Amino acid sequence: MTDTTIEARDLAEAALAGLTAQPKGLSPKWFYDAHGSDLFERITQLPEYYPARTERAILETRLDEIAAEVPDGAVLVELGSGASVKTRLLLDGLPQLAGYVPIDISEAFLLQTASRLRADYPDLAITPVVADFMAPITLPDFGGRPVVGFFPGSTLGNLDRRGAMELLARLRAWPDHAALILGLDLVKPVEVLEAAYDDAQGVTAAFNLNLLTRLNREAGADFDLSAFRHKAVWNDEAQRVEMHLESLRAQRVRIAGETINFTAGETIHTENSHKFSPETLSMMAARAGWGIAGILTDPDELFAVAMLK
Ligand code: SAH
Ligand code: AVI
Repeated sequence: MTDTTIEARDLAEAALAGLTAQPKGLSPKWFYDAHGSDLFERITQLPEYYPARTERAILETRLDEIAAEVPDGAVLVELGSGASVKTRLLLDGLPQLAGYVPIDISEAFLLQTASRLRADYPDLAITPVVADFMAPITLPDFGGRPVVGFFPGSTLGNLDRRGAMELLARLRAWPDHAALILGLDLVKPVEVLEAAYDDAQGVTAAFNLNLLTRLNREAGADFDLSAFRHKAVWNDEAQRVEMHLESLRAQRVRIAGETINFTAGETIHTENSHKFSPETLSMMAARAGWGIAGILTDPDELFAVAMLK
């Protein structure tokens, strides 16, 4: 059995469990087939999606402070590396790095990115790892080299508090870990947040709806995409932007041999993007056992890059 078959079976199982639950929901990790990864890259270029350009600016302008926490001969290990766009700033600006390990669940996209990086950084050992970071990850043997984690993009914010704490604690248990560079999005006015997740060009809507296309292709589903709409709402109590797919009418959908009923207005909850304050971020890191070397923010305090050690 190939990995792809295993993933398709996992997807069908997860979809059945999530769509028969009340309320209906799916993990955001299923967004990222090759097309989903492409759509995410388009999101990072949108005027409304401030996190990508803001984090990039912090990495560019505060490189000296970041470099101070990266030991000689270190290996940079990135979780949810995607197209590794921002990573190039670190690969270019940290000559002490001996290797780079991009980890991602989106296999084809990861391998294509790794081959581009190998061409551009011939002196760096580049070892892609296809893995789900929600489960413990076995890293390659780095022969005792110090490991610096890189978890940008506020991807940790897609987990609930307990999942985020457990993952931070697992990263601290990695052998030879020296530091963690963690990018997290900060709380801000609701209009800015909701626009970032419901852009005028409809790219985020396409990213959300692509999940249904994927379920149709890989999990034997028959979703009619025109009968669902993208919805992004700020949940103040939980301090997160939620993405949903809302059923526009009462309908039945077949998936993996089962029938799922939707009432008009019922939603599939597809993603949480938690937002933080520098204080909650510091508290979480400290509780997971990390020391805080610095919290780097932009002048408007839109985004934070925490240097943990
Ligand atoms: N780090 C990049 C990409 C962020 S998008 C940036 O900051 O721009 C989130 C990335 O995490 C995607 O590439 C997605 O495929 C990956 N991802 C999401 N859930 C994952 C999981 N559970 N395990 C591994 N990778 C995951
Ligand atoms: C990857 N992750 C942190 C993005 C976010 O902002 O939650 C995914 C995303 N969803 C909609 N737009 C971007």
